[in-house]
Amino acid sequence: MAGGVVTSSAPMKNYPGKLTVFVVLACIVASSGGLIFGYDIGISGGVTSMDSFLLKFFPEVYQQQKADSTTNQYCKFNSHLVTLFTSSLYLAALISCFFASTVTRVLGRKWSMFGGGLTFLVGACINGAAKDIAMLIIGRILLGFGVGFAIQSVPLYLSEMAPAKLRGMLNIGFQLMITVGILCANLINYFTAKIKGGWGWRVSLGLACIPAIIITLGSLLLPDTPNSLIERGHTERAKAMLRKVRGTNDIDAEYEDIVAASEESKAIKHPWSNLLKRKYRPQLTMSLLIPFFQQLTGINVVMFYAPVLFKTIGFGSEASLMSAVITGSINMVSTFISIATVDKVGRRALFFQGGIQMIICQVGVGTMFGMKFGTAGKANGPLSKAYTDWLLFFICAYTAGYAWSWGPLGWLVPSEIFPLEIRSACQAIVVAVNMLFTFVVAEGFLSWLCHLKFALFYCFSGILVVMTLFIAFFLPETKNRPIEEMSIVWKKHWFWGRFVADEDVDDENMEMGKKTTTD
Ligand code: BGC
Repeated sequence: MAGGVVTSSAPMKNYPGKLTVFVVLACIVASSGGLIFGYDIGISGGVTSMDSFLLKFFPEVYQQQKADSTTNQYCKFNSHLVTLFTSSLYLAALISCFFASTVTRVLGRKWSMFGGGLTFLVGACINGAAKDIAMLIIGRILLGFGVGFAIQSVPLYLSEMAPAKLRGMLNIGFQLMITVGILCANLINYFTAKIKGGWGWRVSLGLACIPAIIITLGSLLLPDTPNSLIERGHTERAKAMLRKVRGTNDIDAEYEDIVAASEESKAIKHPWSNLLKRKYRPQLTMSLLIPFFQQLTGINVVMFYAPVLFKTIGFGSEASLMSAVITGSINMVSTFISIATVDKVGRRALFFQGGIQMIICQVGVGTMFGMKFGTAGKANGPLSKAYTDWLLFFICAYTAGYAWSWGPLGWLVPSEIFPLEIRSACQAIVVAVNMLFTFVVAEGFLSWLCHLKFALFYCFSGILVVMTLFIAFFLPETKNRPIEEMSIVWKKHWFWGRFVADEDVDDENMEMGKKTTTD
């Protein structure tokens, strides 16, 4: 559940207590969960653009890349094994998500994080020491399992440990840590590529150990969440833990609410069949389409392949890696803009602004590639300064547009529209669809570029037009709306209103009324 902090069903109110060391520690562990995910996203493109790495594992791609400018430039890096190196991780993460949700429930969040961190650590060591492609791919698969466990358990852990009023902020905070991980990876690649002797890529891949050690050891030090203890029947331990975590003995109100929430969720026997009820059609649609569209913005073309892309166009190795550092920095800094504005201007405004900016930029990138290589893929002379400046400008403006719209909102919006009845099932779908299409883009991009040439970027802009129209017509504004009131939001919507019957809204309002009176 990357970034998808799950809110507990307990109403948002101010329970007694303060922000304790435990909660701060929880934030650090959560950060390392975002970091390991981001580090993987940012590291592979730089590594696959290093000559020493290509020479060792993919010599035919190295030859292809060094071939003279009469060969088709769009296909320079098109190798199934190179893409498998990047994409295998996301397939593994997708598969492990399903196991991770059971481990997280049965053994608790802590052991899920520990298992994820340890698997990730082993994967990082194998990758750093890799002698052949098999070791590389096995390492990537282990990293993927680790990421799957981390993105399933860490946000859940965070949302249960954090005081209610910090939950929303932590949601985008997790996305922010993903962007920090990507930037760290970009910077590390920039420096390790300069290491003489051609083993810099080992350092890049091996340094993934650092966030892995933080999450593995950190999880051992962390207590289990009170919610998880209650869920597993350890009521006395849960009370003691709540006192410790909140730094007060006055925990009865919160304890009662957690027990009530836990009983409510245990009473839901069939979350998956609930999901198919007509009244949940809007939520089901959003949980499938939002992560699907987030990946089809094409963002991971930049995140995974920025250095490869810049090398394709003719930048030198160092300039390519530096450009990735620039896009990584813009991605991180722009996420702050989202944090600062999302509750003021609302989700739809950010989706529109970011979407339109990305449409223009994808057209710009496609046109620049077309001007340089035409349809035949033949380079025509060296790059002028103006050309490289414009290309970088379009890629950076595109990344900024993503980082304050689809990046954080692709996780935030789904996490705030699911009622308790279907929350776990919908979150699982969001994570799985996200991982699946991360895999598809990682696997497909280099070959799409080879076949569709510069038109590929026009395709991305076409899809962006469709998704921006989708937001305009189908996504209601969710800013400042309590989750319990969401059914009214759908009911009032011109399209979704027909799926929500009057009694569905009444039912949930009655539930809300009950909750408010017990408050
Ligand atoms: C997405 C990743 C993407 C990252 C970029 C995340 O929300 O899930 O696929 O690489 O944003 O910052």
